[in-house]
Amino acid sequence: METIVIIDLGTNYSQEVARMVRSCRVYSEIVPGNTSAASLKGKNLVGIIVVGTSPGEDPQALGLDPEISKLGVPLLALSASKKHDAKTTMKHVEDFLAKECRTGQDWTMQLFVDTMVETIRRQVGEKRLVCGLSGGIDSAVAAMLVHKAVGRQLTCIFVDHGFMRQNEAEEVIETYSEYDLNLIAVDARDRFLAKIKGVADPEQKRKLIGAEFIRVFEEEARKLGDVDFLVQGTVYPDVIESGLGKHGVIKSHHNVGGLPENLKFELVEPLRQLFKDEVRQAAAILGLPETIIQRHPFPGPGLAIRIIGEVTPAKLEILRKADHIFIDELRKSGWYPQVWQAFAVLTDIRTVGVKDAERTYDYTVALRAVHSTDGMTARWVRLPYELLELASARILAEVGGVNRVVYDLSAKPPATIEWE
Ligand code: XMP
Repeated sequence: METIVIIDLGTNYSQEVARMVRSCRVYSEIVPGNTSAASLKGKNLVGIIVVGTSPGEDPQALGLDPEISKLGVPLLALSASKKHDAKTTMKHVEDFLAKECRTGQDWTMQLFVDTMVETIRRQVGEKRLVCGLSGGIDSAVAAMLVHKAVGRQLTCIFVDHGFMRQNEAEEVIETYSEYDLNLIAVDARDRFLAKIKGVADPEQKRKLIGAEFIRVFEEEARKLGDVDFLVQGTVYPDVIESGLGKHGVIKSHHNVGGLPENLKFELVEPLRQLFKDEVRQAAAILGLPETIIQRHPFPGPGLAIRIIGEVTPAKLEILRKADHIFIDELRKSGWYPQVWQAFAVLTDIRTVGVKDAERTYDYTVALRAVHSTDGMTARWVRLPYELLELASARILAEVGGVNRVVYDLSAKPPATIEWE
């Protein structure tokens, strides 16, 4: 597969450039600024784009390996200030691909899938793998790719950490039992709850949940005998936001930043270079049903990071009910497929209300619905007042312990999509 490597000297702009290159039907991969020329040699490299230089600046002064310019492929340096002039940069990149790199411009998602299947076969050989299936599209696509590559060498493990939404655990088990994925379901609800008991800090919660996940896998894998690989549905935004790109940690996505240092598996992460919308395209190619493809993203740590502060069984119960009502109303009104992600959050704010002429002092639920393409940026959705009114009225009437509902009007940035 012809590849353009994008060397990221520390600017988010490299993602836009990567997408530009892919939209010209050339596969692109982003690598950090300190990547060595030697590590690029195995790729079918047709060009290199260095992103993040200042005009006239020598990329080597920014830490670029001097051997990179000797690889014998065309090199383009883009300054981050070009960001504001997308049209010129579109044209610039297109000319570079067509005239200097002379690429075939015939890359498709089908080609990515086929190449990835071959890569996995080579990486894994006869060895066995486990995959943590969460029910979301990322881990499902990662599992299907590996299954296509090595069939029953793969065992999928669904860990019910107790932070799933209403009826979700049962639905996941039912859906994925239809595929030949050697699915094992583990009920670890008590264990996870005990692990984060009393923990209010979001990063600590994320890290504890991520680490516990791996421990559960290790235990299950040990029961299976020799297992060498762990398959994860890590996508590119997870990598960046967990600080493994050049940018600081925003939040530790549980399948990246939460990995313990003494991990006993080698990782297989076939989606590590894909954006969320591209994962959906891959899912369609792999034959996954629309219900999975259209499902809103759900974070690995689940409702635990949608409960602000300490997580308790009582709070989980409140949030499950409120979230279910909101999603139910979105579906009934036809809005569910029109928004990228929607959910309820249980804040730790309690306020005074009144019910049956009595004072109440109950929780505030926040509703959030966002438009996005890849989760890296987002806009809040202008849902109809009637829909919000209905959802709010039902939550206040049907969910005990809640006396106030608010709607989140924050874009990402400066907010993030999840509250923790
Ligand atoms: P944020 O909150 O970072 O979310 O703006 C961006 C997207 O990522 C999802 N998300 C996660 N997904 N593990 C995941 O698999 C995680 O730990 C995690 N945290 C956030 C979030 O739901 C949104 O779609």
